[in-house]
Amino acid sequence: MNPSSAATFYCRILDNLSDAVLLFDEALSLVYINMPGEILFAVSARQVLGSKAQQVFFFSDQGMEEDMHRGLASGASLTRRNVVLSLPLHPMTVNVIMTPVLDEGSPMLLVEVQQVDRHLRISMEEQLLAQQNAAKMLLRGLAHEIKNPLGGLRGAAQLLDQELPEQELREYTRIIIEESDRLQSLVDRMLAPNKPPHKSLLNIHRVLERVRQLVQVEAPSGVTVIRDYDPSIPGLLGDGDQLIQAILNIVRNAAQAVGTEGKIVIRTRIHRQVTIGYRRHALAAKIDVIDDGPGIKPELLNQIFYPMVTGRAEGTGLGLSIAQSLISQHGGLVECASKPGNTVFSIFLPLGEGA
Ligand SMILES: Nc1ncnc2c1ncn2[C@@H]1O[C@H](COP(=O)(O)OP(=O)(O)O)[C@@H](O)[C@H]1O
Ligand SMILES: [Mg+2]
Repeated sequence: MNPSSAATFYCRILDNLSDAVLLFDEALSLVYINMPGEILFAVSARQVLGSKAQQVFFFSDQGMEEDMHRGLASGASLTRRNVVLSLPLHPMTVNVIMTPVLDEGSPMLLVEVQQVDRHLRISMEEQLLAQQNAAKMLLRGLAHEIKNPLGGLRGAAQLLDQELPEQELREYTRIIIEESDRLQSLVDRMLAPNKPPHKSLLNIHRVLERVRQLVQVEAPSGVTVIRDYDPSIPGLLGDGDQLIQAILNIVRNAAQAVGTEGKIVIRTRIHRQVTIGYRRHALAAKIDVIDDGPGIKPELLNQIFYPMVTGRAEGTGLGLSIAQSLISQHGGLVECASKPGNTVFSIFLPLGEGA
């Protein structure tokens, strides 16, 4: 590798790290910032190169700057945990690792910044997914166990039905058959989403239009579904049927929440540099389903993605759990925020490479 292509190569590596990397000279002026650093501090390298450390970090305590000087002078590496940065947009808690390096004789300070809040959020996300997966495995096992005897039960009831002399008694066999059918369809729904997706390139707005039509037909006439689409969203590699099912479950909930009169907005946007779990995606589609219904009951909010959690008398509590597993099979994520009059379900679907 020649020196200039080696330099580009190393820059690419630095830009693909998940942590911010900054390099300061002896006077604590910034000489390098990698791409995650630009994203973390919401700045462009061009703007901030040459700025003093305080202008980049906005640290609230002076100790940080002293540590940076100390690191430069001592030649030893130094870590500060839970440093609060009062960035203009929002405060942020970070861990900072400072390592002095020598560049052709002049001392420099290499600073790695890890966002603590983000790590917390991701590990919570991972934990939640692990818990949900465990619950789902349990349910799937249970569903399988129920499925087999159920067929036998229904068959036997049918035979009995034919043999019964009195019409009155047949009422009972009819109940057995109907209830087995209901259980059967419940069990089928519990077992359904583990089919591997058949992915093809599709237009997310065609998926959403189908969902909109289905919901509009079911919902009372006082419920309006408004589209707010970003037509520039590129094609997405996915399983159309599964995505329709997943989004339908969410929009249907919104329609049920607003009741006879209300507004549902389906909004699409492109998002850049989205992290889902530990994977970074350059590009993702964000689909928001917003309703102006009463909101999710606070005691349910943390559990609604679990199977069998429902706030409705006639609910199964499977809709969101199925939606989430379908979306995660597409490498995506569903989030939810809710207050009375404004409930937002956000679906992130990675676009392009590795989706
Ligand atoms: N848009 C919404 N507004 C208010 N509550 C909601 C909304 N979406 C979901 N919920 C709550 O989450 C629960 C779980 O939803 P879901 O998994 O689809 O199961 P089900 O619809 O069968 O109850 C619902 O019963 C409801 O209480
Ligand atoms: Mg539902």
